[in-house]
Amino acid sequence: MSDTARTSTSDPAGVPALDPTSGAPSVVLEEVTRVYPGKVVALAGVTLTIEPGTFVAVTGPSGCGKTTLLHLVAGIDTPTTGRVLVGGTDLATLHDPSRYRRDQVGLVFQLHQLLPRLSARANVELPMFGTGRSSGERRHRADELLALVDLAGREDRLPVQLSGGERQRVAIARALANSPHLLLADEPTGSLDSVATNRVLDMFREVQQHGATVIMVTHEHDVAARSDRVVEMCDGRVVGETAV
Ligand SMILES: Nc1ncnc2c1ncn2[C@@H]1O[C@H](COP(=O)(O)OP(=O)(O)O)[C@@H](O)[C@H]1O
Ligand SMILES: [Mg+2]
Repeated sequence: MSDTARTSTSDPAGVPALDPTSGAPSVVLEEVTRVYPGKVVALAGVTLTIEPGTFVAVTGPSGCGKTTLLHLVAGIDTPTTGRVLVGGTDLATLHDPSRYRRDQVGLVFQLHQLLPRLSARANVELPMFGTGRSSGERRHRADELLALVDLAGREDRLPVQLSGGERQRVAIARALANSPHLLLADEPTGSLDSVATNRVLDMFREVQQHGATVIMVTHEHDVAARSDRVVEMCDGRVVGETAV
């Protein structure tokens, strides 16, 4: 983040790109299982309550079910049994899950999943299609968000022309496009050096301070420790908790 962005974030009104959200949701999993074909048990019964407006890390070894859990909360996948409630609403009852994802959720994927043929700006604009914003408004907001993640001047670059840390920040800018109440990030710092990692974690903290619930999956303990609460998973279950 640039110095300008950093100073102005103390005044939320001065950072139009990072709109204060209201109504950060709670996230509740009730006895959730997810069994993939072939009887692969990714989640073996997870019960978890995440308070609104908190920054929570979910950690645990590779294969323990972290990504599966995040996908269920994002409404990309559905539980085999049990319920996932976001803001009190059982996601299984949503008539239009894609609308929930677009309007409520910002998702930062493990490998950022930027579209390679689109510029950084166009990648950030994507989630804004269908939200009633004009092309000028989309462009303006994309540029604001890219400035917020310290990428002003690089709006026209393709993902291949950006470093790993820069690509990850484009992915974060894209996740913030529609001012999500719930930010979900899957190993967002996995490929980053410590400077880039710190920038990303600072961003998540800012998003949380602007009133969103943030859930970050990571297998790195020092990264997890930057959250408010660490939920430890193993073999598809929650096995421990630490308040940090
Ligand atoms: N689409 C899928 N089909 C079958 N098995 C899967 C699928 N996705 C994940 N799994 C399996 O579910 C388990 C949990 O995976 P995942 O949630 O990706 O773990 P983590 O993110 O903690 O590494 C692993 O054993 C993985 O191989
Ligand atoms: Mg994973």
